[in-house]
Amino acid sequence: MAKLHITSTVNGDEVEFLCEAEDTLLDVLRDELTLTGSKEGCASGDCGACSVMLDGRLVCACLVLGAEMQGRSVETIEAMASGEQLHPLQQKFLEHAALQCGICTPGFLIAAKALLETNPDPSEIEVRFGLAGNLCRCTGYDKIIRAVLDAAAEMRVN
Ligand code: FES
Ligand code: FES
Repeated sequence: MAKLHITSTVNGDEVEFLCEAEDTLLDVLRDELTLTGSKEGCASGDCGACSVMLDGRLVCACLVLGAEMQGRSVETIEAMASGEQLHPLQQKFLEHAALQCGICTPGFLIAAKALLETNPDPSEIEVRFGLAGNLCRCTGYDKIIRAVLDAAAEMRVN
């Protein structure tokens, strides 16, 4: 079957790509657009490593088809820093050593940014609840939660 020709917006830029009907958005991002920041942990919507923003909504890119992307807008981890300037969440993840292997980290950062956009002053429980869709097999979560709370505090004063 002929590949599908899709036009969408990725990190603010209009892009065109070809995909098979069964290709996921994660496949497209990683294999067609070489945006490999979004990770594949489970490919079944369970781990959150592939989290991206789709038309302003947090989604698992492994659960969205590339064919669904016509005319839609996606934001990935590649757009989080401003040039050399890390986003406060990225900076705090580094300062708190909130990562080890790093596979989960892009998804956590995208989900945490989405959380802070709707709730700039979350409690610890709200952060834990907001990030419940993201799994980490390395850190034990506490450093991640502390990093998000610290970033939120910094973002509130800046
Ligand atoms: S790879 Fe998409 S949720 Fe795990
Ligand atoms: S740092 Fe390894 S899975 Fe989270």
